[in-house]
Amino acid sequence: MTTLFPFGFPAATAFYLVLLVATLVLHMVLMHYVLAGTAYLAFGRLMGPKRCAVCGWQAILIDWLPFATGLAITAGVAPLLFVQILYQQAFYTSNLLLSHRWMAILPVLIVCFSLLFVQKSAWITRRAWFWRIPVAAAAFAGVMFIAASWTQNHLLSLDQGVWPRLYAERALDSSTPGFLPRLGVWFFAAFATLAVELAWQGRMLGMELVQPPPGSSHVMGLSAVRRLSLTAMSGCVGVVGCGLAYAATLPLETRSVIGGPLAGPWVVAVLMGLGLQMLAWAWVAFRDRLPLPVLLAATTGCGVSMVSGVVLREALRATAIDLTTLTDRHAAAAEIGGLPVFLIFAVANVAAIGWCIRIARRHA
Ligand code: HEM
Repeated sequence: MTTLFPFGFPAATAFYLVLLVATLVLHMVLMHYVLAGTAYLAFGRLMGPKRCAVCGWQAILIDWLPFATGLAITAGVAPLLFVQILYQQAFYTSNLLLSHRWMAILPVLIVCFSLLFVQKSAWITRRAWFWRIPVAAAAFAGVMFIAASWTQNHLLSLDQGVWPRLYAERALDSSTPGFLPRLGVWFFAAFATLAVELAWQGRMLGMELVQPPPGSSHVMGLSAVRRLSLTAMSGCVGVVGCGLAYAATLPLETRSVIGGPLAGPWVVAVLMGLGLQMLAWAWVAFRDRLPLPVLLAATTGCGVSMVSGVVLREALRATAIDLTTLTDRHAAAAEIGGLPVFLIFAVANVAAIGWCIRIARRHA
């Protein structure tokens, strides 16, 4: 394809591709908070009660992770609809082949969600401090399992050559060389996003980040803003390393798309976004402060690399799966109406959510 993604596709296909990318970005923004947040806590808890007590980031995560997980799950629904309209057979077949290995996502998600509530409950505060470690570790392991399942499902949907063997052998595991580096890209990207999100939360909750008092809330010699900087920069470096390793596992024709007109400019945008984040966080590490313009620069870099990364992901899949055989079905799907019904339910849902918020505020 010789046109920048998504312009070379028929109108209905391009429409669904854009909707998938837009809604998936929203899922990623929230899912990154959950993935990196549970990891941050799982490792943070190993530092013991004294250090954890001064780490404002861990306190924020304990408080907000259950809510963020609810949002991440909800935000996964819209891309789940669009991915099915767009790729149909490829998506369904990999779901079916992974069978209960795929469906295990649901019970694991329920257990993780519950553990995040246990983590902030009065019940655990009455227990010996040690118990926070296995709870945080189990929540992280579960979230990581879910992330790995989505990556495995994605890779299997592209690897149609192995479908007959998996079916014949009733094997539930399909390991491909791209699995670990691809999962690594999401894992490390999540830390870069988490740093930006925590910085905004810290500002809104009144943490002093612009000119932190000397020595305040230091953990292992690092101030709160330097810890964020380390989190973000290691995330960015990890994304580049895993991204290169993943690219090396792609078939030659897919790799040529990365440098071509369809995806090339999006690769450049990803790198520019990562570069801007690195510059902003390096400034923070050097000066030990996080003023608003620097946070805005890091946020812009994060937004650019996140959107371009999700676009790149879709551009590569849209070339690996032959969409030309599906374009008629996309056009047919685009003809189906239902806007009035959608609007009625949208208004009813907004009203119900508003009502719940009012009740919660009254009892807060
Ligand atoms: C907190 C738990 C979750 C985590 C950690 C998570 C993680 C991920 C990751 C890492 C990917 C990208 C996979 C890849 O490209 O290799 C992904 C994609 C996706 N996730 Fe989630 N996810 C979670 C929950 C959910 C839920 C509950 C839903 C549905 C309601 C969902 C819907 C999606 C969709 C539709 C995609 C795109 C799939 C595709 O394009 O093939 N996610 N998720």
